[in-house]
Amino acid sequence: MIKAVRGTRDLLPPDTALWNLVEQAAHEVFRLYNFREIRTPIFEQTQLFARSVGEETDIVSKEMFTWEDGGRAASEKAQSLTLRPEATAGIVRAYIEHDLNRSGLLQRLYMIGPMFRRERPQKGRYRQFFQIDAEVIGPPTAGSESPSVDAELLEMLAHYLERIGITGWTLELNSVGCANDRPKYNEALRAALAKDLDKMCEDCRRRAVTNPLRVLDCKVPEDQPIIEKLPRMLDYLDESCRQHFQAVQELLTAVGVPYVINARLVRGLDYYTRTAFEFTHGALGAQNAILGGGRYDGLSESLGGPKAPGIGFAIGEDRLVLALSRTAEALSKPPDAYLAPLGTGTNREAAKLARELRRQGVVVELGDESFRLKKSLETASKIGARYAVIVGENEVKADTFALKNLATGEQVAVPRAELAHGIRR
Ligand code: HAM
Repeated sequence: MIKAVRGTRDLLPPDTALWNLVEQAAHEVFRLYNFREIRTPIFEQTQLFARSVGEETDIVSKEMFTWEDGGRAASEKAQSLTLRPEATAGIVRAYIEHDLNRSGLLQRLYMIGPMFRRERPQKGRYRQFFQIDAEVIGPPTAGSESPSVDAELLEMLAHYLERIGITGWTLELNSVGCANDRPKYNEALRAALAKDLDKMCEDCRRRAVTNPLRVLDCKVPEDQPIIEKLPRMLDYLDESCRQHFQAVQELLTAVGVPYVINARLVRGLDYYTRTAFEFTHGALGAQNAILGGGRYDGLSESLGGPKAPGIGFAIGEDRLVLALSRTAEALSKPPDAYLAPLGTGTNREAAKLARELRRQGVVVELGDESFRLKKSLETASKIGARYAVIVGENEVKADTFALKNLATGEQVAVPRAELAHGIRR
């Protein structure tokens, strides 16, 4: 038997109702903040992720699904392509490519779709997973650097989680500084690491030289006591980053969104500047981050675009659904009516009637004339239909159908024109 590939999974009904619920709520809540949907391709040039997410990150160095695409004709050149491991890089690429900066306005964009990372699969961690991603990006003159954008985005997340009924989350907040203060911090990190580096893992030893901030992201248990004692970015922020972070916090307090400062929070991607955050949830076990995000004020420029600071987040939809306490069964809606054709030639009449009823908004499942009445009624009960409509030869002739309430067993004759009304009542 051929099975789904390790780390991928099928989402089956009734669970898909939960996925639709969280996606629908995202469309509705994000709309209240004037976000609009964007859809970018599932694969991009490998370069895009290497340059944005960063060569030294786990995502780029170990987890990407990358292949050499040969090109089909001599005129097409071979290129390295990658299944997107995240959404931000593609959205910023599209922002630059379509010159969205030109409007001079903030772009509030969101996207829902699958991402791909070759991680070790476990509960809440998959190789194909879904993100609900949102970004606010624009020229500085549009206010893209304002701390109020950060706070509004975080408030929108709190609103969204409340709307879908997720409680018990923690917003962990940090500032990872900017191009101005990062070199000083990197220096401090290298100095602090110098004496312990030989005790650390190979990745840390390499990263201490190439990109010391990544050392803070190391998951090797033996390295943690050393990492715990390293200097904190928050103590190295320059005056403007410090004030920015302060303003974000004041706004969050003003709108009543609770948060905790986590000075050790570094995200697994290199493009972040200033505000970085995660929402964690106790019900999720080891993979407890429901979502993460932050500012990326230099990303557009590093990809050859205009100065277009931005901030965004991605919700791990798989984890969000795991954290929902609602059960899929409670959401699944059975059909209103099961149409039971009875006798040779009645399939045609039943199909016509089903078409009429559906146009009046009735949810109909259509049976088959080869079924005996008993089997039709059993099927109607099994699928949870409220009514069975019997479409036999006599009914067709009289244009009046037997409508059976499956809960009470009561059966009445209803003229065709009143059937939809009778069912919906
Ligand atoms: P990220 O932290 O890498 O950030 O991913 C965001 C969320 O995606 C995580 O918090 C988690 O819920 C979910 N996630 C990540 N990997 C997996 C996996 N293997 N299986 C299931 N869920 C997973 C980003 O991707 C950034 N692009 C977020 C962002 C947008 N920053 C700015 N704008």
